[in-house]
This record gives sequence, structure tokens and C-alpha cells, in this order.
Amino acid sequence: MFEELSVLNTRPPVYSQVTTPDLWTDPHISARMLAAHLDPHVDLSSYRAEHLEKIAAWIISRFHVRPGLRVADFGCGPGLYTTRLARTGADVTGLDLSSRSLDHAESLARADGLSVRYLEQDYLSYRDEARYDLVIMVMRDYCALTPDGRRALLRTVRAHLDSGGSFAFDVDSAAAMAGVREQAAYAPSLMDGFWSDRPYFGFHNTYRYESERVSLDKFEIFETDRTRTYFNWVRYFTPDELTGDLVDAGFADVEILGDLTGAPTAARHRSSPPSPSTAEGRRARAVRSPPVPRPGRARRWTPPSGPSSGLRHEAPQAARARGHGLRIAAIRPTPGRLSALARRGSVYPASVRCRPAPEFDSVRNTCVRKA
Ligand SMILES: C[S@@+](CC[C@H](N)C(=O)[O-])C[C@H]1O[C@@H](n2cnc3c(N)ncnc32)[C@H](O)[C@@H]1O
Repeated sequence: MFEELSVLNTRPPVYSQVTTPDLWTDPHISARMLAAHLDPHVDLSSYRAEHLEKIAAWIISRFHVRPGLRVADFGCGPGLYTTRLARTGADVTGLDLSSRSLDHAESLARADGLSVRYLEQDYLSYRDEARYDLVIMVMRDYCALTPDGRRALLRTVRAHLDSGGSFAFDVDSAAAMAGVREQAAYAPSLMDGFWSDRPYFGFHNTYRYESERVSLDKFEIFETDRTRTYFNWVRYFTPDELTGDLVDAGFADVEILGDLTGAPTAARHRSSPPSPSTAEGRRARAVRSPPVPRPGRARRWTPPSGPSSGLRHEAPQAARARGHGLRIAAIRPTPGRLSALARRGSVYPASVRCRPAPEFDSVRNTCVRKA
């Protein structure tokens, strides 16, 4: 027993295993996830109703979502944003792995008489002839990806954005990691039967990986006839790290905000330039110095604000952090979120210009579900 518990409590190497899809496709877990999505009072799989409405309203106004605008929601879940965006008359596509969530999204669209295109699809490998003016990804899914996954995602987004198109998404800020404590917990039916409708014993370990700025929640679920392990990785970003990912992927005009409601607008500040001797500094200069003139936006950011949640960590000082400005030179250690807006770079070298990937195959890769 001691040996087994030692193995169970051994820190896994960072990103050693990825199980994210299992969370969204397992019949029992996906049902619990859907219930969490639809609970208007909690920030679990989706943000709570009040915040969600603000995000939808801000996206609509910020990107002038209107009839004919082509919008894709990557990881659309049960269609809470796709439905709201489609009501403007925009041409909306939702992508998700979870057929259960997509069924719900389709039923919402039908009830509203909306036409939304839903694709049961992995956004890391999605390839389609469609081009979008706007891609959104809400609820900090970017943080759950491995570095390779993040690169694949950004490649996919960029490949499907039309010239001048924008990508808007949110992440956990570096400061949010302060709220993560290493711990180990055990319970019969851990998390009130979340993991199975049959009897089970669950172990939950939380680990911090300081230099990678990553946390892991590992869940080991023991049933009579099977044992499952789930890895929930979260990467926490500084504005420069996030900008760096985007610039490396060929995006330009990167703007970092406090969250996807665009608030608090009064707290946006221009960044102090990173040192040109660092990789971040070199990337930042790449953003600021395009080879052809364009009306570039300054890189701006606000303090991280608001809670992380769900299988992620609650942010204890979220309420206090919300709405307070911060002049950036360093990121204040308060928990919270950031969001990034980036445009497909039209100023990048031809070698990374947008073109369909060689493996492009719209029939094989796309399962179209029509509402
Ligand atoms: C945290 S939920 C957010 C859902 C939605 N954006 C919202 O805020 O209501 C993440 C969603 O992304 C989906 N998802 C996760 N990984 C995915 C992948 N590789 N490709 C497509 N969808 C994915 C999940 O099925 C889930 O519906």
C-alpha cells in the first residue's frame, strides 16, 4: 500500500500526459460538465450568466459583429456565445469536441430560429475552406493546452482568419498562479460523483511547476473494474509571454486587456518596452516595427482580474482585484485573467503567410452539423 501511495503521489513530469478530450467526451463526465455550463451562478465550464452576457456584449461591440460577419467560436460548448452572436445576423460557426454540448447548442439555435453551423471537431486539427473575420475562444482554454497544442491552435486560427481578421481569447494570468497551493486529497466519490455514476475512490493532487509557470490537477479514479487518470494542466501567462506566443505564430497588432469584457477600460496602460536584449524584447520589437506602415495598436494591458474556476483554481482576491488599475512594469501578484486580441499578421514574412496546410482535406477533417 505504501508503495502504491508513493507512486500515486509522485509528481509527473510537466505535460507528460494529456487527457483533456476525455473530460468532454466521456458520457458521464460530459453530462456533469454540461450541467456546469448551464448553471448561471457559477464560473465552472462557462462563466456565470452575468459575466457571460458582458463578454458577449463586449465582443459584439468591439468587433462590430453584424449581419454577414463570419465568426467562429473554438470550443463553443453548448452554444452560449454562438447563439448570442448569431442573433446579430452574423454568420456563426461553433466547433467543439463534445457531441453532448453540440446537441444542446443545436437545440438552442433551433428554439431561436437561428442558423448556426456546428462542427464536431478538434480545433487543433481543424482544416476547412471557410475563412472567418473573427475567431473567439472563451474560458481560458488556451491555458489547458501543451506548448505544442498552443502552437497547433494558433496555426489553425491563423489559417482560418481572413486578412485583417481577429482572434480574441482569454487566459489565466501569471498572477493567478499565486492562488495555487500544492495539496493532496482523497475521498470516496470525490467531487460528489463527478467522475462516475458508479462507486469509486478518488485522489486529487495539485502540483506547481514554477519555472514553466504551470499547475497540474491530477485526478486518479479507482472503480471496481477500471482506473482512470485525468490531467488538468494550466499555464499562467504574463502579457509578454502571451504576446510572444502570438507573434511567433504570425499575429500582429496584439492587444492585451484585463478580460474579455474589455473592462476596466480606465485601467489600460501602455507597456514599458521590454529589454531588446531578451527574446521578449525582440518579439515586442517585431510587433512594433512592421516593415510596411499600418495603423498598429499599442500593446496595452490591464491588471489581471476575476476568478479562475471549475477544475481550475478559485482566485481568492478576485473581487478586490476587479476594477483596479495597475501601471505595468511588473505584474502585480493578484490572481485573475487576461485576454488577448490579435490580428492575423499581414506584415509577416511570406514564409509564414497564411495558406492551407498541406494536409488540408475538408471532407475528411470536417463533420458538419447543421442547425
Ligand atoms: C471550458 S469549456 C468552454 C465552453 C465555451 N467556450 C463557454 O465558455 O461556454 C471548453 C470547451 O472546449 C471544448 N474543447 C476542449 N478541447 C477541445 C478541442 N481540442 N477541440 C474542440 N473543442 C475542444 C470542450 O468540449 C468544451 O466545450
